[in-house]
Amino acid sequence: MNAMKYEKWYKEAVVYQIYPRSFQDSNQDGIGDIQGIIQRLDYLVKLGINVVWLSPVYKSPNDDNGYDISDYTDILSEFGTLEDWKQMLGEMHKRGIKLVMDLVANHTSDEHPWFVESKSSLDNPKRDYYIWRKGKNNGRKPPNNWTSFFTGKAWEYDPHTNEYYLHLFSKKQPDLNWENPKVRNETKEILRYWLDLGVDGFRCDVINIFSKKEGLPNGKWKIALTGSEHYLNEPKIHEYLRELKRDVLSKYDCFTVGETVFVTTMEALEYVGEKREELDMVFHFEHMAVDTINNKWFITKFKPKKLVKVLSKWQEDLNGRKHPEFGEGWNALYFENHDQPRSVSRFGCDGVYWQTSAKMLATALYFQKGTPYIYQGQEIGMTNAHFVRLEQYKDIETHNIYKIGRSMLHFTHKRMMKKIKYMSRDNARTPMQWTNEKYAGFSKTSPWIEVNPNKNVINASLQQTDPDSILSYYKQIIALRKKHRVLIHGEYREWRQPSPNLYIYERKEDAECIVVMTNFSRKSILPRIPNVLARENFEYLMGNYGMQPLSPHQQMRPYEARVYLLK
Ligand code: NOJ
Repeated sequence: MNAMKYEKWYKEAVVYQIYPRSFQDSNQDGIGDIQGIIQRLDYLVKLGINVVWLSPVYKSPNDDNGYDISDYTDILSEFGTLEDWKQMLGEMHKRGIKLVMDLVANHTSDEHPWFVESKSSLDNPKRDYYIWRKGKNNGRKPPNNWTSFFTGKAWEYDPHTNEYYLHLFSKKQPDLNWENPKVRNETKEILRYWLDLGVDGFRCDVINIFSKKEGLPNGKWKIALTGSEHYLNEPKIHEYLRELKRDVLSKYDCFTVGETVFVTTMEALEYVGEKREELDMVFHFEHMAVDTINNKWFITKFKPKKLVKVLSKWQEDLNGRKHPEFGEGWNALYFENHDQPRSVSRFGCDGVYWQTSAKMLATALYFQKGTPYIYQGQEIGMTNAHFVRLEQYKDIETHNIYKIGRSMLHFTHKRMMKKIKYMSRDNARTPMQWTNEKYAGFSKTSPWIEVNPNKNVINASLQQTDPDSILSYYKQIIALRKKHRVLIHGEYREWRQPSPNLYIYERKEDAECIVVMTNFSRKSILPRIPNVLARENFEYLMGNYGMQPLSPHQQMRPYEARVYLLK
């Protein structure tokens, strides 16, 4: 079958990510669930989104909040049942919302029956579903020096069979052996299962690390992720992706977005170039690293110029001109997800300019070329958690880094807490703030993770009726994207500025051109606009300062954003 037979509807989509544990609790156990999602679908319709990416809801012991799956074809009871899930899908489709599920196939849970079998003996038929090796030095040392994404060694010793298994995440997340065709066939079955039930696509967890270099050689020592040069973008992953596309995905009207850690634009094109027949989009991490040095826990002051440079590079490089052999690639536009801090606390200002800067960030991002992804709560400007005690954090990665920081790097408690406060994944995982009630309308009982104390000021209910709210502004953005085709397909070009804090770009197709102007600082700055363009050439479309500015040439006020149609 021909993969091109389906329209590329995902290019016109606006995706909303739901992290189910923190979205809406319907049965008052403090944990979000599927019935809760159903209750909130009309809110999503009003927002204007038309695709939901749902983080894992599969059976899982929850070592990594569902990214450790023990049954790929059933639903975790905390979230509901398969019947609930089917009802949710029906309700979504009825409202014109498509559903993208999370495919987590680099690893399973260690409680998955495949691993239980694999572990049971050296000659079990499922032994080579996973990556088992003998230790070095008579078994006393792990097979190589690779380290895990969650810190510490990437190998766990199993005394029963006297071998080690590889786990690039927690030891409860053993890596599958993708070189084994049976593992690939199992994955295809999982894909078919959900596609036949009606899902519309997959977000593919850490898809660029599935294939490991033959021989699993030692890596060059690094402060983090020693060994990564032996599994990031190994050539065989491209074969495997084409195989999945050929055998399964091309037969359905669906799309895939791959989470690809540390990819460059060139590497990304190898996954998403239209001629490659692999993935439809990728989430890269380059813009998520602009406030760090080499590692997410070595944090440095955010400089807007760095962010702008990365954003522009991805816009320009994915257009495929540099590498026509791959064809054009399509961007996934995101500032937030369940693994990242809140963007307004990170790239904006969650104090005085909270509202203005949250709107500015959305303007800077969502008029670029690509598919917008909005993470739950982003549309109301939810901020970092501002937790003060370590126990308030629940995330495995956060606790691991605290331990390592204290014990190996000898950092003080205060220093580690500062890092965690800024970067912990739990910043994104506090319950969705629906109302100002005790538990923010998320639940009637104490939730699995504390509610952000700012729920009285920041909540959806307040914003729904306020035409100047961040939520109303997001609705305007989505509506404008729908109205102007140029915002979907138009070419991107940056209007370079002398100020490192201004970011201005145009989107152009045929005679239509839209100019997006944003100020990433608390200072007023004069934009540089070509002299040939007079005030009459600009029709004001929207902005975050309420009243229309006098002229596009006028100073950009703190965190100001303006959008014009160029005539
Ligand atoms: C990426 C996911 O987004 C993250 O939440 C998870 O911990 C790892 N992959 C492991 O699955």
